[in-house]
Amino acid sequence: MYHVISAKAFTKDHLQKLLQEANTMQNMLTQGASRVLEGKIMAALFFEPSTRTRLSFETAMHRLGGNVISTENAREFSSAIKGETLEDTIRVVSGYADVIVLRHYEIGAAARAAQVSQVPVLSAGDGAGEHPTQALLDLFTIYREIGRTEDLTIAMIGDLMYGRTVHSLVYMLSQFPGIRLICTAPQTTPMPVDVIEYATSRGVHVEFEQDLHVAAKKADVLYQTRVQKERFKTLEQYEMSRDAYIIDESILELMGQRSIIMHPLPRLGEITQVVDQDPRAAYFRQTHYGVPVRMALLKQAVMKE
Ligand code: NCD
Repeated sequence: MYHVISAKAFTKDHLQKLLQEANTMQNMLTQGASRVLEGKIMAALFFEPSTRTRLSFETAMHRLGGNVISTENAREFSSAIKGETLEDTIRVVSGYADVIVLRHYEIGAAARAAQVSQVPVLSAGDGAGEHPTQALLDLFTIYREIGRTEDLTIAMIGDLMYGRTVHSLVYMLSQFPGIRLICTAPQTTPMPVDVIEYATSRGVHVEFEQDLHVAAKKADVLYQTRVQKERFKTLEQYEMSRDAYIIDESILELMGQRSIIMHPLPRLGEITQVVDQDPRAAYFRQTHYGVPVRMALLKQAVMKE
């Protein structure tokens, strides 16, 4: 069955096919709708807050002619509050829908769900673990904006420890040749060792650079992230980590003319609003790429192509 649990499961071939399919979907969106998933149902089970991920998945399903059932605050408004296990909820919902999109606050939740589900499970984030569909839309953004997914220098900035989108994107980029990764993180939220080991074992060149100004000069992509307040044990630890790295006009001056700034969003103060006017600010375009990418994933999962 076509589950999407970890970005590690995608080969380079598979990623390239998905990027092509997302391109086709993007072109189709400008021409009108598709009905390929007519009569099919997607269940969106969200145990953690979401704006972009849930709404772009729902949009994608509608754009393919399918239907959506959804619980946006499953932690309180599903039977989880009565003590039902995730496994039982998935057993039930997989009898209602053709595909389940799951966001959960525990690392490993999506893998547990996939074990008991009768239908494909697409992870929309498992705690501080991974966010594989975001990584695919991030890869698609790089492909559309820069024109290639190899021979690239990517600076990952901010919360590299708890930022699940970072982990999944590093796993996907590791499939491509000529990738240089610059880790620019406060000492409180470094890139996890296992993520670095995965990347280096696949030929990625990893550098550590505390100075964002230096990273900005070298990178094709500045991938900024939010410091994940909800994952810290104490507020004090969070306060020590926030605002360590801010992308503002001084960073724009150092960046290459063809480089881009990405962010999975939501952003707080880590990218100042003046930066939004610059054509290299790709983060709002990035959110829109989520629709064709999730259309491609949903089609694969439901049609088993
Ligand atoms: C991210 C997430 O939920 O992991 N957002 C997203 O899905 N686009 C990033 C974040 O919350 O900071």
